[in-house]
Amino acid sequence: MPQDTLTITDNRTGQTYTLPVENGTIRAMDLRKIKTGPEDFGLMTYDPAFMNTASCRSAITYIDGDRGILRYRGYPIEVLAEHCTFLEVTYLILFGELPTAAQLKDWVYEITHHTMLHETTKKFMEGYRYNAHPMVMLVSTVAALSNVYPDSRNIHDPASRLLQIKRLIGKMPSIAAMSYRHMVGFPYVYPDNDLTYTENFMNMLWKMVEPKYAANPVIARALDILFVLHADHEQNCSTNTMRCVGSAHTDPYLATASAAAALSGPLHGGANEEVLRMLDEIGTKDNVPAYIKKIKEGKGKLMGFGHRVYKNYDPRAKIIKWAADRVFEVTGRNTKIEIALELERIALEDDYFVTRKLYPNVDFYSGIMYQAMGFKPEMFTVLFAIPRAAGWLAQWQEMLTDPEQKIARPRQVWVGQEVRSFVPMEQRSAAGVGTR
Ligand code: SDX
Repeated sequence: MPQDTLTITDNRTGQTYTLPVENGTIRAMDLRKIKTGPEDFGLMTYDPAFMNTASCRSAITYIDGDRGILRYRGYPIEVLAEHCTFLEVTYLILFGELPTAAQLKDWVYEITHHTMLHETTKKFMEGYRYNAHPMVMLVSTVAALSNVYPDSRNIHDPASRLLQIKRLIGKMPSIAAMSYRHMVGFPYVYPDNDLTYTENFMNMLWKMVEPKYAANPVIARALDILFVLHADHEQNCSTNTMRCVGSAHTDPYLATASAAAALSGPLHGGANEEVLRMLDEIGTKDNVPAYIKKIKEGKGKLMGFGHRVYKNYDPRAKIIKWAADRVFEVTGRNTKIEIALELERIALEDDYFVTRKLYPNVDFYSGIMYQAMGFKPEMFTVLFAIPRAAGWLAQWQEMLTDPEQKIARPRQVWVGQEVRSFVPMEQRSAAGVGTR
């Protein structure tokens, strides 16, 4: 019997089946051979929320949740955060190799010259209400770029894909900054090509009347490190959305807008904003034990804690904690960090969290750091979406060029009514279904 196989006995029929095991998986389609008779559709897997289902083969990001390992294209996140700029990492994620100095120079030039937005996009954004949430503005404005760049529908043309990828990586900070300026009622600031990617983002956010914006180098580097940490994370909810929407051959702007919409959920990228709300609600270190008690009684979740994959400390959280201390040296210590550290200290000793393997994730400390940098909580998930767009686009391209992939269309387990006879209007009764 070949070693890498699984033998299954179907006790309904006494039949046995031998299925190949590859990369620690069996092909779900191999289960369809397991039938009770010629009429039987065959076995499927039932896996709500894809808890144990691999949807693709990928070579971009590797995570080992038990050992707290995260690598982009084989390079540990710790090394990349220490030695690389965000644009250098986007090159690695997209092309699979770290760039040479000449390649990086060319890549930076390309991205820098795609930071401008079409003036009609600026007018489109001016239509939002004064109190529009920046994340909603980002999602809808990215989708609107589909109208500005109809050539993006040529998704099978590598040159067109690369042009859209450059445009999106270049324009995400511009859209994000314009969403912020709209929210606070300040005039938009145009990109400054003399500045680095992250310095220019800060310029478009915070330049007022000074002739030339000068970014604080500590803040700029800390933000760049945060962008590196958030660039990709294998098949998370928003990346799965990018792949699913992209599998229908939509253009990359509509697919990216869908992914950003998924990211905005409070269980996903929206958690960093929720962490700040939670810390505000707790108020002081002394209130932490009472808050923990409430969580243990099932009254809510500890935002910024827990992860579907990491059952150990999220390696990104450790680096963010280090970067936060560098930022506090410039901005002054954000008092909320004391509440967060106390929350972490107690949670990591408490059996409720330990048995559920709930550790701080990437969102737990990032919000505190963003706030110390001067960002409003409404901008936190926008700050997640900017770098993650590079990961979404790399995953989108990997999906499109994977010969095994096709339009995503899961099956279902039918639990509804069997066939019924039609009921004429006069014979119907309101069977308890209220419409109010
Ligand atoms: C991100 O997937 C990614 O890679 C995402 C991300 C990325 O880079 O793309 O890493 C970014 O989204 C980080 C996660 C940010 N979200 C939060 O911080 C929100 C709070 N966390 C939880 O909602 C939760 O931990 C999830 C959503 C992150 C993971 O949920 P799972 O894997 O579905 O786990 P679960 O909800 O089934 O929880 C298992 C148990 C449950 O208790 P029991 O039913 O067994 O009694 O743990 C409990 C949950 O109630 N639990 C929590 C908790 N998270 C899980 N209890 C209290 N506080 C929490 N935060």
